[in-house]
Amino acid sequence: MTTLSGVKKQESGLFDVYPRFDVTPTRAEGVYVFDQDDKRYLDLYGGHGVMSIGHSHPEYVTQVTRQLNKIGFYSNSVLMPIQEEFSDKLTSLSGYTDYQLFFCNSGAEANENGLKLASFHTGKTKVIAFKGSFHGRTAAALNVTDNSRLSAPLNKNNFEVVFLELNDKEALTEALKDKDVSAVIVEGIQGVGGLDAPSDDFLNFVSETCKKHEALLVLDEVQSGYGRTGRFFAHQHANISADIICMAKGMGNGFPIGGLLIAPHINATSGMLGTTFGGNHLACAAGIAVLDTLKNESLIENAAHVSEFLIPELKTIPSIKKIKGRGLMLGVEFDYPVKELRSKLLYDFQIFTGGSANPNLLRILPPLNITIEEITPFVQALKKVLK
Ligand SMILES: Cc1ncc(COP(=O)(O)O)c(C=O)c1O
Repeated sequence: MTTLSGVKKQESGLFDVYPRFDVTPTRAEGVYVFDQDDKRYLDLYGGHGVMSIGHSHPEYVTQVTRQLNKIGFYSNSVLMPIQEEFSDKLTSLSGYTDYQLFFCNSGAEANENGLKLASFHTGKTKVIAFKGSFHGRTAAALNVTDNSRLSAPLNKNNFEVVFLELNDKEALTEALKDKDVSAVIVEGIQGVGGLDAPSDDFLNFVSETCKKHEALLVLDEVQSGYGRTGRFFAHQHANISADIICMAKGMGNGFPIGGLLIAPHINATSGMLGTTFGGNHLACAAGIAVLDTLKNESLIENAAHVSEFLIPELKTIPSIKKIKGRGLMLGVEFDYPVKELRSKLLYDFQIFTGGSANPNLLRILPPLNITIEEITPFVQALKKVLK
């Protein structure tokens, strides 16, 4: 097994595809993770942007436990009022009150279904995506991901995709002249790619141009959604609505849940999409606990509030070149690779941070209930390491 510092650890029976932190969490609470010696780590990585309401939140533990004691799972072959409750709460909190909800299990699956649905609806086959994108590792999601290294030979002969520079209106206009484009897929803010984002102006242009050409706008909010940027979805800063919104990560606070919000003009037909596990009782209980907590504890507002403190603090550090992103989805960019800095933060200061395709960028994705007091040690640690 390889660790992030490049050290080979013990041999194991695991298929060795992940570089791992040399830390073994055994419990977690709020914004902290504890190892087997009860050493405390500040989690600014959020288990890859997943922790929305914080680790082992009492409301989450209570609702999931209560549900497990009643019924944990049944498939989508029966009536499930808990799915209706989830849908009511999600559409109300996100402002997409007339949209329909489809459940799945992961971010890739959400995008896979989103792209298929756009193609079913329009009857067209091609897709426009953007340079630097990451949409997941299943066939269609991978095909619109701008990283050919992730594709196996069998992925090569998929549907046609045109990759454009983000924020290039001319290129989009040109590409949408092709009458066979079913969808434009874009991340609210690019995560894995390194926190580049479509501007609010560009998103408005994409939305209008898609309507003109009868292509659907598919917004990948898998990482940037669920309150992380200070609005429910990142694209809502631009005051647009998308046709299909793909969600996962923060949706389950660690429980594997994905989903699509689907515009009312897109009709469902029996068997068009489907899943065995998606929307099961336990997943719904976890997802409802997340939505209740986001609302009751005003965590979306908190994400904006903590960010308004953090960004100016980071700007006082001279070696930081640029701060990207919004809310609590931030990229802190330097003139040099951050590999060593991330190791120092982790092993000397017990602070988890994320990386990205940009080697010079620290990715910050803490639970949305982090306080100013809890995030301040990160600023202090950076000042110490970078002095
Ligand atoms: C924007 C975005 N879309 C899709 C995915 C894929 O999600 P999953 O790993 O749950 O399949 C990710 C994962 O990092 C992501 O950041």
